[in-house]
Amino acid sequence: MSSGNVILKVRDLKKWFPLRRSLTEALTFKPKRYVKAVDGVSFDLHEGEIFCLVGESGCGKTTTGRMITRLIVPTAGHMYFKAGDEVRSITPERFMSEDGYIDIANPKLPKHVDKALRREIQIVFQDPFGSLNPRMKVYDILKEPLIVHGIGASEEERRELIYRALSEVKLVPPDEFIGRYPHMLSGGQRQRVAFARAMILGPKLVVADEPVSMLDVSIRAEILKLMMDLKEAKGLTYLFITHDLAVAAYLCNRIAVMYLGKIVELAPTEELINNPLHPYTKALLAAVPEPDPSNRFKIREVPIKGEVPSAANIPPGCRFHPRCLYMMDICKKEEPELIEMSSGHYVACHLYKK
Ligand SMILES: Nc1ncnc2c1ncn2[C@@H]1O[C@H](COP(=O)(O)OP(=O)(O)OP(=O)(O)O)[C@@H](O)[C@H]1O
Ligand code: SF4
Ligand SMILES: [Mg+2]
Repeated sequence: MSSGNVILKVRDLKKWFPLRRSLTEALTFKPKRYVKAVDGVSFDLHEGEIFCLVGESGCGKTTTGRMITRLIVPTAGHMYFKAGDEVRSITPERFMSEDGYIDIANPKLPKHVDKALRREIQIVFQDPFGSLNPRMKVYDILKEPLIVHGIGASEEERRELIYRALSEVKLVPPDEFIGRYPHMLSGGQRQRVAFARAMILGPKLVVADEPVSMLDVSIRAEILKLMMDLKEAKGLTYLFITHDLAVAAYLCNRIAVMYLGKIVELAPTEELINNPLHPYTKALLAAVPEPDPSNRFKIREVPIKGEVPSAANIPPGCRFHPRCLYMMDICKKEEPELIEMSSGHYVACHLYKK
């Protein structure tokens, strides 16, 4: 599944959250049940690209992003990361693959490696108000990660880094912002601080989890532009998470469509928009309310029935079958694999079985 310079190889990644059992279930030794939030996801992130995970609420986008950022531990699977030279130099050989990748899903990674990796993979959340400490001034919000990671030999050096980070996210002059608390900033400014906090550690990979969906429409384009500028200036790679296919199409190089914990289609953006294969992708595209002004969307009349089933009760076979208009007998029994239909265009659907 790889081509070009791959910064992260995600392989069969899973996160199952155990469901609390009732007393009767426990006493009758009923098997444990799980919310299969992410249920075997594989993809590559290419260096310098913006890769998007898109899908309806609850399909496992955030859980995937949180595993990659290592805020939660995967149930199973691998995440092979191409760390920077500094991190590789402190990583014992047994934790590195032959081609120099570190499996960041390995719970046995030494603490110092784990900490160094955290600098290289950062996350920006949907809700800047929730993710910034309301009792801390902007200066201290940005200083905190520097202290945690021992960056800057003196307060002067740290101050310089903080001022630079604020300038990079266009909060200028920085003097005007360093003394403010989060509630003294607009929504857009708060999200800029969140980006500054991520950038100050010099990451290689940034997971952006719905970073504009809580902002006013008028501010969204500004923040998306900021993300692009930062990417160009810093040579970043983004994993961009959204439920909004229009935003994904505007921003991203490649798009992976998730449904109930799995990727059902993955393709370069233009290809996915112009030639969607999976019935679910077609339905998502049909749900995009208006064509993009650049005419990148072709709206299709593909209805979809029913609601997304619960991740605690995933249908057998193709997990989309209860909602699919093209459902065949095999769909109820056999789970379709993700197969490559044309260069870089993958789909998991029995309609395309080779
Ligand atoms: N800590 C948790 N414990 C139990 N279940 C969880 C936990 N976190 C997430 N889930 C469940 O896992 C599934 C996937 O959740 P996730 O937040 O990853 O979805 P999402 O695609 O990001 O959705 P949204 O678009 O609403 O943000 C959901 O069914 C959710 O309820
Ligand atoms: S595998 Fe079958 S049910 Fe699933 S999307 Fe394809 S046609 Fe529909
Ligand atoms: Mg989410």
